[in-house]
Amino acid sequence: MTLFKKKIPEFKKSIDDHLMMILSGSEQSSKELSQAMEYSVMNGGKRIRPLMMLASAMTIDIKTEDVIPFATAIELLHSFSLIHDDLPCMDDDSMRRGQPTTHIKFGEATATLAADSLQSLAFESMAKAKFPKSKSAQLDLISMIAKSIGSAGMAGGQSLDLDSENKKLDPSSVENIYMLKTGKLLQAAILAPTYFRELSKKEVLALMGFSESIGVAFQIQDDLIEAEGDENMIGKSVESDKSKNKAAYPILFGVNESKKRVKKLYESACSSLKVFGESSNALREMAKIIIHRKL
Ligand code: IPE
Ligand code: IPE
Ligand code: MG
Ligand code: MG
Repeated sequence: MTLFKKKIPEFKKSIDDHLMMILSGSEQSSKELSQAMEYSVMNGGKRIRPLMMLASAMTIDIKTEDVIPFATAIELLHSFSLIHDDLPCMDDDSMRRGQPTTHIKFGEATATLAADSLQSLAFESMAKAKFPKSKSAQLDLISMIAKSIGSAGMAGGQSLDLDSENKKLDPSSVENIYMLKTGKLLQAAILAPTYFRELSKKEVLALMGFSESIGVAFQIQDDLIEAEGDENMIGKSVESDKSKNKAAYPILFGVNESKKRVKKLYESACSSLKVFGESSNALREMAKIIIHRKL
């Protein structure tokens, strides 16, 4: 079996091509707005969430081409969340992916509208996507994705994250915020392929367990990268959490404790996949990439 890792450049290219196709094919009335949308999406993101969706599709034997429209929609939603996350009223960050954040480049109003438009475009493209099963299964999938970014998901987590500044939270409260602000969208990416065919309850639960652990690990690793990284290397501020006294895992519990927790969560994520045996190798590889990434 070919390693998933080897196919990543090829997968990334099809994700990027599809993203570009959606962006350039969408109706536009303002050049400034369409430039801000493209700038925010096509500027070197790692495409972790779409890749996770493809890895999950491979695990349960769904054609990767079938999930690509949903994988790219998830990336549009991720890009929208980053524009908002960087705004002065949120994390107030001026660098992302080694370039000025969208509001620094285009102004706050255009950045806000670009995020709105990316969200809208994601749902439009999911509604229009070809789907091999029933329309009702497609609607269920779109609802699941909508919920993952709403007040019970990413937006809810972002609200708790902002509220946590200057507070000494315990580890489980911090992990709850991480599970919501970062884990829910990643989980939506991993669960999306389950809407393409019938699976046993055990299999769905296994993917849920995997995504819960790896989502939290992803965010602790993100904080570790910020705590230990170099600004030029990571392409974003290394002072963002510290300067705002965020409830970030390494700040509250130390770098060593954070690393130990990432390892534990990775092990628990992988053990959730036992039910799939070797066919889940792609997800295991992605989990490894997530916990070892330096960017
Ligand atoms: C960064 O996500 C923001 C978080 C949710 C932790 P990524 O590390 O996936 O960011 P890009 O898209 O690759 O820049
Ligand atoms: C980002 O979390 C979470 C979302 C965008 C939903 P952070 O604020 O910790 O991520 P970075 O460090 O800015 O990428
Ligand atoms: Mg934030
Ligand atoms: Mg941030």
